[in-house]
Amino acid sequence: MRQVIVAGNWKMNKTVSESVEFVKELQEGLGFDLKLQVLVFPPFTSLYSIGRIVDKSRIGFGAQNMYFEKAGAFTGEISADMIKSCGGEYVIVGHSERRHIFGESDEVIGRKVKSALESGLKPVVCIGEKLDEREAGKTEQVIERQFYKAFEYVQEDMIEDCVIAYEPVWAIGTGVNATPEQACEAHDFVRGLLEKKYNGGVAENFTILYGGSVKPGNCKELFEKNGVDGFLVGGASLKVVSFLEIIKIVNNMLV
Ligand code: 13P
Repeated sequence: MRQVIVAGNWKMNKTVSESVEFVKELQEGLGFDLKLQVLVFPPFTSLYSIGRIVDKSRIGFGAQNMYFEKAGAFTGEISADMIKSCGGEYVIVGHSERRHIFGESDEVIGRKVKSALESGLKPVVCIGEKLDEREAGKTEQVIERQFYKAFEYVQEDMIEDCVIAYEPVWAIGTGVNATPEQACEAHDFVRGLLEKKYNGGVAENFTILYGGSVKPGNCKELFEKNGVDGFLVGGASLKVVSFLEIIKIVNNMLV
């Protein structure tokens, strides 16, 4: 069974008190029959406080990044164990902002995925092409390279703890989402890669999220597509009202 997930990536937003207030309000708003997994990814500084108040039967949470080493002289970095010690169960790895603003390589991302899994965190692995790559007809080539590098060290017994988020870079924060057809095409391609590297069962049960300008107004048509198993939401996850609306729309589409 594929797990449906609606996740909010807060990026560099919200102080501790704003984060706690958000989670409390979201929790109150989730008082209905929830059929999907809600996740939030606050900044590191809010993880501990959220861990103390969150009802994990309603909302899971994790960090937006981590380093692959266990501990040591890595100024400014955070380990998987530190995230776990705050109660976090997930970690976003390879977000396009990490790749393109902070220069994270495919190799580093592969090591992070491995380290997250070895420490018992569930990685949400982001992949996606830039606009020039799409225009040059290289979308599949880019996705394939990112996929194989990210999962280089992941054997079949670990893959079920992973989630992939397809986030075309040109759709992130631009207001221009991928069309449902474009999302579907990319998700099918990723599922094909999962089948090739692992097997049909893994591919069939694997959760692939779409991310990039998701909002209440476009999530229904995107989720209607086979193979889109939920969302990684940026901007629209920063307000309880819009995030909750996306959750409700998707939840209502589940039987
Ligand atoms: P937006 O929803 O703001 O486009 O951001 C998407 C994203 O990067 C989620 O990780």
